[in-house]
Amino acid sequence: MKVFQNYPLLDHNTFKMKVSCRQFIELERPEEIVNLCEQHLLEQPFYILGGGSNVLFTKDYDGLILHPAFQGIDKIEEEARHVTLRVAAGTEWEKLIDYCIQHHYFGLENLTGIPGLVGSAPVQNIGAYGVEVKDCILAVDGYLLPKATPFHYQCDECQFGYRSSIFKKELKGKTFITHVLFRLSKEPHYTLTYKALSEELSCQQLEPSLDNIVRCVRAVRDSKLPDITKIGCAGSFFQNPIVPNEDYQRLKQQLPDLVSYPAGEKVKLAAGQLIDKAGWKGHREGDAGIYPKQALVVVNYGNASPEDIRQLYEKVISDVYTKFQITLQPEVNIL
Ligand code: EPU
Repeated sequence: MKVFQNYPLLDHNTFKMKVSCRQFIELERPEEIVNLCEQHLLEQPFYILGGGSNVLFTKDYDGLILHPAFQGIDKIEEEARHVTLRVAAGTEWEKLIDYCIQHHYFGLENLTGIPGLVGSAPVQNIGAYGVEVKDCILAVDGYLLPKATPFHYQCDECQFGYRSSIFKKELKGKTFITHVLFRLSKEPHYTLTYKALSEELSCQQLEPSLDNIVRCVRAVRDSKLPDITKIGCAGSFFQNPIVPNEDYQRLKQQLPDLVSYPAGEKVKLAAGQLIDKAGWKGHREGDAGIYPKQALVVVNYGNASPEDIRQLYEKVISDVYTKFQITLQPEVNIL
């Protein structure tokens, strides 16, 4: 493992906040977490940081940052119609997508372009364009902290929901994920329920195939989301709110074109649409702004400080509440 003191985090958070942490440990092997536990190093504040694409550091982190750097994709089982891959937490998400395309494994292709590492994917059950990662997860392996007891949770034990899992709820801060096991199809099997994706395919006159879906998802993403290598951000800053039916009916009177999706007995609204309707899309205060093509994304155009970002997102939450009586919740982890 590599250990650093007073370590700058600028290159470890896609929001590009100029903060540092007291200690930074890069783990090169999963078992190293056991040594750290034996040394009682996890008895101080600690945070497991993958690609840093879903976090807003509001100040220097006065604790230990653990960063899984071990990578690898192993095919551990192959049947006639399916394969099982065991993928190390430090593997870049897009490397896994590339591997699946190369080997013709179906299931994850709609999730191309999501920044971050494989170990983070189950924590918030990443999702896009009609697919959630839980749809392909067989199990998640790791250690329970701070005692480093190994765990192996089957998909149905992970309590996956919209942008949520057991790792974000009752086990928040209590697990170190080392591997994710994916069960993928060897037979063509596409999810084309998301309108903009099916429209992009027909507009480009393409038949569904792994390559074509990846190409179209990337085109749709590029049309709506900033390029994180150029503009600081953490993807969707807010979660789409899930509200009782009464709230939906009330708001539908106010906004006849209200976008909604069924969510069990409740209704999921599009936070981006509410922020847009409240007039914030494209709004900029210094270097902090609301992305002009997708109001769900808070951006740092260069030198925004954590305080600039905080002031902006708090104003958005408060204004959306005043106008629509809906409370938006950040999706990013705010530290
Ligand atoms: N909308 C607006 N104005 C906006 C943004 C959206 O009116 O500024 C409307 C759209 O027209 C659409 C609806 O809101 O009718 C939903 O928008 P979109 O399809 O772009 O998706 P989203 O609900 O805003 C979610 C995810 C994204 C994911 C997309 C595509 C969350 C918090 N976000 O966004 O995930 O890429 O669906 O599946 O669930 C991320 O998590 O970082 C992320 C980008």
